[in-house]
Amino acid sequence: MSIISKDIQKAVALLKADKLVAIPTETVYGLAGNIYSEKAIKSIFATKKRPFFNPLIVHMPSVESLETIVSDVPEKAKLLADAFWPGSMTLVLKKQSSIPDIITAGKDTVAVRVPNHPVTLELLKQLPFPLAAPSANPFGSISPTKPEHVARYFKNDIEHVLDGGACINGIESTIIGFEDDEPIIYRLGALALEDIEAVIGKVSIKNKKEESPDAPGMLDRHYAPATQTFLTDTVSEDIKKHLGKRIGILLFKSDMKDDTITTQIILSQKGDMAEAASKLYDALHELDHQNLDVIIAEKFPNYGLGKSINDRLQRATFSI
Ligand code: TXA
Ligand code: MG
Repeated sequence: MSIISKDIQKAVALLKADKLVAIPTETVYGLAGNIYSEKAIKSIFATKKRPFFNPLIVHMPSVESLETIVSDVPEKAKLLADAFWPGSMTLVLKKQSSIPDIITAGKDTVAVRVPNHPVTLELLKQLPFPLAAPSANPFGSISPTKPEHVARYFKNDIEHVLDGGACINGIESTIIGFEDDEPIIYRLGALALEDIEAVIGKVSIKNKKEESPDAPGMLDRHYAPATQTFLTDTVSEDIKKHLGKRIGILLFKSDMKDDTITTQIILSQKGDMAEAASKLYDALHELDHQNLDVIIAEKFPNYGLGKSINDRLQRATFSI
């Protein structure tokens, strides 16, 4: 029997019993557990094979829950929360002492967000505790944007994938922390930098490991297919380097006429970056299951969501 279903009550019961449930969000599916259950949180790390130094995001039903989780909210964080929650933004704020160290990897900050998905908001409202939920994939591999992706990864490890359909935004939330009350982006994501700056002004970005060893999701290689993947401005030139191999191409908007390639996926024929982002991981899952020798991905224009997409593609490749 499939572990995928729309049964919210089953999710409530499992989560109350310290078990894990995969939950839909508007960004990617999460592997969720009760933040106060040591048993559940340990099994999140074990199931994902995730190192304990990598802290988890706490998912709350509404902004009001912040009171029980964080101890200080800078003015700019308030503005962001009002503007974008529920939504694809995670804030890293000073934690309250009641938040277990295992959630925050011993740090004095905690990452929080209110996800924008009706099914998971309903689930969170029915639970007496918030949910810790990293993306529901084994550590380092491609994040899941459909319930089937999660079931393929974890069908032997978890009992329930709560079906909320395909994720509308399709890449992870944008993570924003504060240093001396000034906002810093630790991870580019589904909320574009320009949208954030429209609310709070200029924001700096520290999303490389060297700049920010404290945000471990910024590892150079992450979100990666098993198939060797390259990112390039010049797809046709790169194809020539792999002649004779089974080549898969990932393109933004225009298709390619080239007999030497095995397959190609176009992310948005109308050139819409939001549509491209929503299909990105599904396309990588798809290409990764076609027995290809290499995947060559086209670089996106470096603004708006294109910047976030390039960030993910860079980490999926061997070329950096
Ligand atoms: O869209 C999302 O954010 C998804 C969905 C499920 O909500 N979740 C997600 O979680 O992407 P995960 O665990 O794959 O990524 C969480 C990131 C990691 O890079 C982690 O290092 C960072 O959040 N993080 C968590 N707590 C932090 C903290 N206190 N300081 C800095 N970075 C933190
Ligand atoms: Mg992840």
